[in-house]
Amino acid sequence: MSLRQATAVACANIAVIKYWGNRDHALRLPANPSLSMNLAGLETRTTVTFAADLPEDEVSIGGASATGAARGRVVEHLNLIRLCAQTTLRARVESHNNFPSGAGIASSASAFAALTVAAAAAAGLKGSEAQLSALARRGSGSASRSIPAGFAEWRMGTGDADSFAVSIAPPEHWALADVIAVLSTRHKATGSTEGHALADTSPLQAARVAGAAERLSACRTALLERDFDSLAEVVEADSTLMHAVMMTSTPPLYYWEPLTLAVMSAVREWRAAGLPVCFTIDAGPNVHCLTPAEHAPEIAMRLRALGVPQTFTALPGGPARLIKSE
Ligand code: DP6
Repeated sequence: MSLRQATAVACANIAVIKYWGNRDHALRLPANPSLSMNLAGLETRTTVTFAADLPEDEVSIGGASATGAARGRVVEHLNLIRLCAQTTLRARVESHNNFPSGAGIASSASAFAALTVAAAAAAGLKGSEAQLSALARRGSGSASRSIPAGFAEWRMGTGDADSFAVSIAPPEHWALADVIAVLSTRHKATGSTEGHALADTSPLQAARVAGAAERLSACRTALLERDFDSLAEVVEADSTLMHAVMMTSTPPLYYWEPLTLAVMSAVREWRAAGLPVCFTIDAGPNVHCLTPAEHAPEIAMRLRALGVPQTFTALPGGPARLIKSE
């Protein structure tokens, strides 16, 4: 019996310039470039074993056997890796997040980044970081950004081969903290994949996409120069533009809850009063508050005082990494 096994770990990431909408849904080629920070400590660990005696792929997530769409998405990604590695062997996949799945922290980025690195190694594929990022992108767009270290820019590219993420700065570049205000642990009604497919139904998407490269360039400069004030303005503008597109799609997607708006407004007041903090929000009600690390405990305390039930704090994280391969 041939058995090839590999284990990989990857972090979640938070986008400061958002990915929303695809120009090619099947290949997950994005409508616009995006930029993110890996989140240290919020990780998925995945072991993939290719074995000759498996009649079909076995997928377990968090200790429970996955079925239906969740399993289907993993199997589809394994099929892609099998195609690249020219193997027909079935695989056993065991995946664990070290953050609670109900915590409202998107796990598809860390999950597909870890799955890609582990499955590629177990299948004997020797890809560069760029190739692994492009491969991870096919499983979940934001997973492309969890492959490189620290602050990652996902370039549009011209096609499948050159649409991948690269690190623009290592995690040590800037101790920015993401203080996540967890307002709801409910499973979101409309996931990102369905959301991307609706983006073009919004009359605002074309305008959002048209300005994305310019916002990304301003955001990249602010990050590289550690210029928090400039970063704050462009990060909030980009997040709100994405939500404007979501709310004006057909059907419309409303992710904000009353407490989401209360936190957004408080964050802006705190910044106006001199505390360096800004918000960004993904496809859910939770608010990611970015702040230089020394202010993170103060921000977490203020969020709790506003009625936020739970917070998580993460610093910039490293690249997806292979832990074991045999
Ligand atoms: C709002 O990468 O989760 O978090 O490619 O369908 O898996 P799929 O979508 P996903 O979309 C992320 C959307 C976002 C913004 C972002 O992370 O850039």
